[in-house]
Amino acid sequence: MPLLEIDNLTVSLFQDGTETPLVRDVSYSIEPGETLALVGESGSGKSVSSLAVMGLLSKALRVTSGTIKFDGRDLLSLSAEEMRKLRGRDISMVFQEPMTSLNPVRSIGAQIMESIEENLGLTRAQARARAIDLLKEVGVADAEQRIKQYPHHFSGGMRQRVMIAIALAADPKLIIADEPTTALDVTIQAQILDLMARICRDHGTALILITHNLGIVARYAQRVNVMYGGRIVESGAARAIYNAPRHPYTEGLLRSVPRLDQDRSIPLKPIQGSPADPFASISGCRFHPRCPYAAQVCRTEVPLFKDGLACHFPLSANTREAV
Ligand SMILES: Nc1ncnc2c1ncn2[C@@H]1O[C@H](COP(=O)(O)OP(=O)(O)OP(=O)(O)O)[C@@H](O)[C@H]1O
Ligand SMILES: [Mg+2]
Repeated sequence: MPLLEIDNLTVSLFQDGTETPLVRDVSYSIEPGETLALVGESGSGKSVSSLAVMGLLSKALRVTSGTIKFDGRDLLSLSAEEMRKLRGRDISMVFQEPMTSLNPVRSIGAQIMESIEENLGLTRAQARARAIDLLKEVGVADAEQRIKQYPHHFSGGMRQRVMIAIALAADPKLIIADEPTTALDVTIQAQILDLMARICRDHGTALILITHNLGIVARYAQRVNVMYGGRIVESGAARAIYNAPRHPYTEGLLRSVPRLDQDRSIPLKPIQGSPADPFASISGCRFHPRCPYAAQVCRTEVPLFKDGLACHFPLSANTREAV
């Protein structure tokens, strides 16, 4: 049984008397212990679809259709209190900017212990011991001393490690990491991603890794969902998508990021045009105005999502540009 199963999820913004879908008919599932990447440009709906799973949508946003099942439970029917218990204990989230998620006036130890005490019902002394163990596990040296310090005593990479320790506090079944490393420099990014991958493997934790960078996906994720304009446009095994993208948007994303297996002298090529705007009215495939392969049918008909792809003219070995 999948750990998380999302079916036909649509999330809309209600504003000034109008309803604008931000996430459109998204379906996917994740197995226990699996790492799944959500990839796409800014505004593609990665965060909104994940916040819907967490029950953390802001006031103006609402799930208008679809179902979200976690461990066999229908999350959309849970009360606010039940969702609060589920967060932290079963599902936790790591955000991009740890400085805004950490409380600047409380010690690191207090913040990790709070989550442990709340979710595991341990005594203070036990919670403190576990907090120290967790800090050690995420690679914070001298954890016994560091636990007394405040967020501003930590570098960006170290703060992100602390956030991972907090996410791990109750040994959740699923962690959603929303761009956990974009604020960090490249070397530290790789260290943090390696750390998350190792920890999830060791604990059997499923991981949803949200990123702009399709280049890192092949290394860390088993499967990937490529999102554009609130929809999943391509999904499949990370390796296969990395080596042979079938959607023109995926191909474009791959050309715009450095590849691990590529000569660094090959210039990167951004996708032409600007990222999808949920307020723009675009007929047919939402990617068609930017697609180098678009034909008439792409302008008039929304391609159905079938066999892991929503495209009227999937790329094949013959049509694909060398990426
Ligand atoms: N609370 C909100 N009110 C209004 N619009 C919103 C809100 N949250 C998100 N949006 C809009 O919904 C769309 C999808 O946003 P989302 O944050 O999911 O994108 P994303 O894929 O996570 O992008 P990024 O990579 O920049 O984080 C965007 O156009 C965004 O402006
Ligand atoms: Mg986001």
